[in-house]
Amino acid sequence: MDRRLALVTGASAGIGAAFARIYASHGYDVALTARRAERLETLAEEIRMRFGVETLTVTADLAEPAGPQKILDALAAQGRVVDALVNNAGYGLPGAYANTSWEDQQAFLQVMVTAPCELAHKTLPGMIERKFGRIVNVASLAGLIPGSAGHTLYGATKALLIRFSQSLHLEVADQGVHVSALCPGFTYSEFHDVNGSRATLNRRMPAWMWMGADEVAAAGYEAAEANRPLCVPGVHNQIIAVMAKLFPDDWVMTLMQSRLGRFRGL
Ligand SMILES: NC(=O)c1ccc[n+]([C@@H]2O[C@H](COP(=O)([O-])OP(=O)(O)OC[C@H]3O[C@@H](n4cnc5c(N)ncnc54)[C@H](OP(=O)(O)O)[C@@H]3O)[C@@H](O)[C@H]2O)c1
Repeated sequence: MDRRLALVTGASAGIGAAFARIYASHGYDVALTARRAERLETLAEEIRMRFGVETLTVTADLAEPAGPQKILDALAAQGRVVDALVNNAGYGLPGAYANTSWEDQQAFLQVMVTAPCELAHKTLPGMIERKFGRIVNVASLAGLIPGSAGHTLYGATKALLIRFSQSLHLEVADQGVHVSALCPGFTYSEFHDVNGSRATLNRRMPAWMWMGADEVAAAGYEAAEANRPLCVPGVHNQIIAVMAKLFPDDWVMTLMQSRLGRFRGL
């Protein structure tokens, strides 16, 4: 098999689907994974027709501890190894921490932290051996700013992905493996439908705060190619990231609470 393979998690929608198209447009075969099999098949067919690359689909639930290994086993059964890994699957869990079940929080940590770390851990040795690899961890601007009510573990999981990416970036910098954390702000996708905040956000968030999934994924692809450890797409998001670094945490927390607390259904 001549072409390299990009594995994209959460490829059935939004930023993940955009990443799959971008990697395919650069000549990669793509392995698409998520829970909704029909969505994956439709995208796989579109990508095959448009870009003439091979596509593989693996239906898996990353909330299941066995999910990551199931994906890698399915690729291995096809004789494929992962050259580029896009850890993208994710969602927001609405509600105050005390009012959610531990089962939901545990599943959230599994999807947002354990699964991406496991996939990176298991694909990295092969990348190092072949002296080529790309790992993009889709984090969030929320991982660069202090936490806010109703977003309890979300920012924390994204902050972990950012620090993880930076450390791994340094560890493998001279081995042909590029590691980047992508930190989007508000992005058009199904994310806010899934967490139930779409109607409120549409009413209250100005259009300039939003980016398209395609431009966000393109920025992530370019950052990984350029081996930049951190990518914040969009000038408005970059300004927010700088302000969050310069201003004291309690100022930013107060501002966040007044601006965002009411979106989170508390
Ligand atoms: N949209 C934003 O404003 C925004 C901003 C910053 C960061 N992000 C991050 O960007 C990433 C992609 O989100 P998106 O905006 O593209 O949202 P999206 O359109 O809702 O897509 C989320 C993807 O994750 C998959 N997924 C969710 N739970 C899963 C599970 N248990 N097992 C396997 N796959 C699962 C979904 O597939 P199935 O439902 O088919 O399983 C879907 O493909 C997430 O990590 C999110 O935190 C989004």
